Amino acid sequence: MDSLILMDNEVHQGFETLAIHAGQEPDPTTGAVVPPIYQVSTYKQDGIGGLRGGYEYSRSANPTRTALEVCLAEVEGGTRGLAFASGLAAEDTLLRTVCKPGDHVIIPDDAYGGTYRLFAKVAEPWGVAFDPVPLGDVDAVRAAVRPETKLIWVETPTNPLLGVADIAALAAVAHDAGALLVVDNTFASPYLQRPLTLGADVVVHSTTKYIGGHSDVVGGALIVADADLGERLTYHQNAMGAVAGPFDAWLTLRGIKTLGVRMDRHCSNAEKVVEMLTRHPAVREVLYPGLPEHPGHEVAAKQMRKFGGMVSFRMKSEEAAVAVCERTRLFILGESLGGVESLIEHPGRMTHASAAGSPLEVPADLVRLSVGIEDIDDLLRDLEQALA
Ligand SMILES: Cc1ncc(COP(=O)(O)O)c(C=O)c1O
Repeated sequence: MDSLILMDNEVHQGFETLAIHAGQEPDPTTGAVVPPIYQVSTYKQDGIGGLRGGYEYSRSANPTRTALEVCLAEVEGGTRGLAFASGLAAEDTLLRTVCKPGDHVIIPDDAYGGTYRLFAKVAEPWGVAFDPVPLGDVDAVRAAVRPETKLIWVETPTNPLLGVADIAALAAVAHDAGALLVVDNTFASPYLQRPLTLGADVVVHSTTKYIGGHSDVVGGALIVADADLGERLTYHQNAMGAVAGPFDAWLTLRGIKTLGVRMDRHCSNAEKVVEMLTRHPAVREVLYPGLPEHPGHEVAAKQMRKFGGMVSFRMKSEEAAVAVCERTRLFILGESLGGVESLIEHPGRMTHASAAGSPLEVPADLVRLSVGIEDIDDLLRDLEQALA
């Protein structure tokens, strides 16, 4: 099957080279240098079962999606990549492949609200118990493990409080317990952090974010190191059917090509925004793993190339936080993150409203920025006027 053919790693080693070429050989028929959008549901068979290139029906496999899946596997250092209709579709497929009723999962006490909702409103009624635990505290994670724990689910950095978890240490805890370590790598992207190389078993992405990078497509991905797990997930991907369509796969693949250069700019802009916010009298606290006083700074410096484009900060009241969100002119008030354009939001009332009243409820005075790649002076001016 084409999705198992990875690159010749003697020629293709560097991140950007893989991002631009992995899974994307020029089209053998036309020479087109970009994989075409195979907008097709079914494929002619040369006699019953005589498949050309392994394709029979686009839920099972589609050449544009294959190109994306190979590229995702390569940039994360895995053996198998799988592309889904959304990040949550990827999460749900993983959960229902690895867990069954009676199992237990450890989740972060700070995570994307939709991930929490999946565990609380879908997985738990199905019979999978879960415990939110502060993942920065490895002993607390070890203490929360039960005989029926199947997954330790990590976000690092977390959404929206930018907490950091030590991937290698948690991989050891998971493996001692016979569980898998899952890392949601959406905030870092594979350019900044490659969890499989640190011992994680599964990487999850909302490719909607930095990987797609242009706020024009919703998608998700799973990448695994172990070939057998890859086979089981591929079976469930087809059996459950929440696959990425060809055009979405093509847009995502187009986004990946520039991930490295975009991330460099996201990071350098974010560092300057953090510098300004930490000095601003209206701001109570800035949350960014690049700050030396951040409790996860050392771990982040060890496992990340740079500290990312997401910045959260606390104002002195909820009203002040809401006012800043409504006063920016360049930072667009909106959910999501990771696109080229800067976004601002109030997690308590927007992305994390579904966690209200739960252990994952976020502070009401919190503001989250997705720092884009616009001119930094324009971004700083906009924030200054919104904070004034
Ligand atoms: C960290 C994280 N994981 C997963 C998701 C879910 O992804 P999607 O919205 O593509 O379903 C999101 C969405 O915001 C997210 O921020």
